[in-house]
Amino acid sequence: MRVLSGIQPSGSLHIGNYFAMMKRMIEYQNNNDLFCFIVNYHALTTVTDGKALAGNTFNAAVDFLSLGINPDKAVFFVQSDVPEVTELTWILANQTPVGLLQRAHSYKDKIAKGISPNHGLFSYPVLMAADILLYSGEKVPVGKDQKQHVEIARDIAIKFNNIYGDILVIPEPDIDKNVATVPGIDGQKMSKSYNNTIKIFAPEKEIKKAVMSIVTDSTPVDQQKNPDKSVLFKIYSLFLNNDERGELRNRFLTPGLRYGDVKKELFGRIMDYFAPFRERREYYMNHREEVIDTLESGAKKAKKEADIVMEKVRNATGINYRKVR
Ligand code: ADP
Ligand code: TRP
Repeated sequence: MRVLSGIQPSGSLHIGNYFAMMKRMIEYQNNNDLFCFIVNYHALTTVTDGKALAGNTFNAAVDFLSLGINPDKAVFFVQSDVPEVTELTWILANQTPVGLLQRAHSYKDKIAKGISPNHGLFSYPVLMAADILLYSGEKVPVGKDQKQHVEIARDIAIKFNNIYGDILVIPEPDIDKNVATVPGIDGQKMSKSYNNTIKIFAPEKEIKKAVMSIVTDSTPVDQQKNPDKSVLFKIYSLFLNNDERGELRNRFLTPGLRYGDVKKELFGRIMDYFAPFRERREYYMNHREEVIDTLESGAKKAKKEADIVMEKVRNATGINYRKVR
């Protein structure tokens, strides 16, 4: 099955990105035909510092490689290295009702926060639809916040096919219920844009500071704590198996637990979990050319796939005027 997803290089990647998307992608590469990309055109909607965008794009690639994406198994590349995606975006824009984009939660949330929207932000889901449809993605692993965007891609593909014939593959979102929304250290959704993340590869001190500032309630030490309402419990659970999670639940329910102790344990757990990946990251940071070569050869493979779909799309829409039907 063709599994495909992308991640924005809009800041340092965090454990919400890892558990909801990156870890699952890395698992999928073993038994599926995986396309994995860094969506730098999308990041233009929020990052206006060119140097920062270029740096974040490279770092996101290094992060993914360090965490285990294997370019021999997966097609791994940067979105803008296959510029056909912008051509398809324009073509799909003509099958995208304005109302569909106006109903997008992510767009509405940004407006509610007072951002004055530009056309890029408004048409963000059309570019994302192009990412998915250009490579005939069937299954799209994402966090819950991206479900609606994948559904928009479906709607656009169905509309296009109704007009031009059965050309585009209809995608499905793939969400892991256990990690649908990872909370940030302040209890809101963890997000690069809210400054509430635990970064995967930040210096040890910074990770410790973030973990120690996870919000907790003011239940006194000698009373039971409620694990189901605890951000600390939710974040810690990501690193635990079922038995361990059950044990932690019992500790919350037993008077005497100190949140500070649990935070220290969690910090240790996070450092241990990512330790081998940190080592690999050092390697890639010292072999930058190897990373660029890997991305370029990934883009070549991706372009081959894109050419197949674009040929059909250009023929069906009449953009290819040389083929008069
Ligand atoms: P961010 O909101 O931090 O900028 P992105 O929008 O780049 O993250 O998301 C990259 C991937 O990680 C997407 O699949 C998204 O659904 C997932 N994701 C991001 N934040 C979370 C979260 N807090 N919980 C679950 N999934 C998340
Ligand atoms: N919008 C997604 C996010 O913010 C990133 C993305 C862009 C994407 N294109 C995609 C995800 C295609 C899956 C498939 O997380």
